[in-house]
Amino acid sequence: MSEAAVLERYSEGAQEKQEALCCPVDYDASLLKLLPTEIVEKDYGCGDPSRYVRKGDVVLDLGSGSGKICYMAAQLIGEEGQVIGVDMNDDMLALARKYQDEMTAKLGNDRVRFVKGQIQDLALDVDAMEDWLKDHPVNDAKSLSALEQWKQKQKQQKPLIADNSIDLVISNCVLNLVDDAQKKQLVEEIYRVVKPGARIAISDIVSDEAIPQHLKDDATLWSGCISGAFQEQEMITMFLEAGFQSISFDKWSAEPWQVVEDIEFRSLTLTAIKPEGTECFDSGHAVIYRGPFNFVKDDEGHEFPRGERMAVCERTFRFLTEGAYKDDFIGISPAGERTPIPWCAPHGTRRPAAETKGGQHVHGDSEGSCC
Ligand SMILES: C[S@@+](CC[C@H](N)C(=O)[O-])C[C@H]1O[C@@H](n2cnc3c(N)ncnc32)[C@H](O)[C@@H]1O
Repeated sequence: MSEAAVLERYSEGAQEKQEALCCPVDYDASLLKLLPTEIVEKDYGCGDPSRYVRKGDVVLDLGSGSGKICYMAAQLIGEEGQVIGVDMNDDMLALARKYQDEMTAKLGNDRVRFVKGQIQDLALDVDAMEDWLKDHPVNDAKSLSALEQWKQKQKQQKPLIADNSIDLVISNCVLNLVDDAQKKQLVEEIYRVVKPGARIAISDIVSDEAIPQHLKDDATLWSGCISGAFQEQEMITMFLEAGFQSISFDKWSAEPWQVVEDIEFRSLTLTAIKPEGTECFDSGHAVIYRGPFNFVKDDEGHEFPRGERMAVCERTFRFLTEGAYKDDFIGISPAGERTPIPWCAPHGTRRPAAETKGGQHVHGDSEGSCC
């Protein structure tokens, strides 16, 4: 689908509120209070990824539109955090920037900026490219090749969004607007910019079945955030293949937003984590999965049967006992100091009780000692 249709539709959306693009969302009203009415009204989102923002985060909002989610996130990050909104549409950028001074005064410091870029190519600085093009117009193969060389150099030397620089990537109803041929590159770009161990929260539209080509070719359905949607399982697969872990459909609307030719389109929020790394050092740690399921399996293939003392490397131990899963696992650190060895316990390796005896049991709501 042509990018021109998307540009045209959202230029109109920046000028006049477009009812057809509005999907009802239950935002945190306390965060909307500070926002100018025009920004709240020109809302073309389908979820609320600002719920995942933490104090101090550097947040990147893909397809920031009027800037609503950026200005909501800005209230949650505090003085030390930063929000960067990326959008490719000049009219949307102008709308978001129009209120920047007002919001800076309300927030107490300048913690939000909006940059021009394509979310499937987050290294390319489109403003810088447009400046360069003023002096180097492209009108033949030679000048086209010069532009390509300039782009490569700019992306390497001064990427718009650097590798491993973001604590939380968010997006609200935008990934579906990227051409299918570029969706893989888009997800790989998201992976590139997130810091190891950091998070993403993507609100978008998904379809319950594959979308036929004639619907994809319909410019109104495409630019209206419908026919470019990921199919549910396709979305998970693409994020897994890029390297993300702990992928969850955290929010899932019960009712479809639209039904077209019997295909249900609904909004959801996908959350995931970029792994800290792949290195495995064994120092004798174990974890016990508390239940309630018979067993669980992570995205690296480790299985954790309920109640079993499973051998894990230091990295997996930290991941399961310090993060989002700390209430699901009991961690047992080794009794004495052991020199870490590069060893990753093969899936299913139990840690004998003899090795963890006297070790410290950590995290979760531990019982006190018996009388
Ligand atoms: C459905 S609106 C969502 C806007 C905003 N996230 C919100 O919650 O209101 C889509 C926005 O993404 C922008 N957009 C679409 N495709 C894009 C792309 N490939 N790169 C950058 N921005 C894009 C559009 O210009 C528009 O502002």
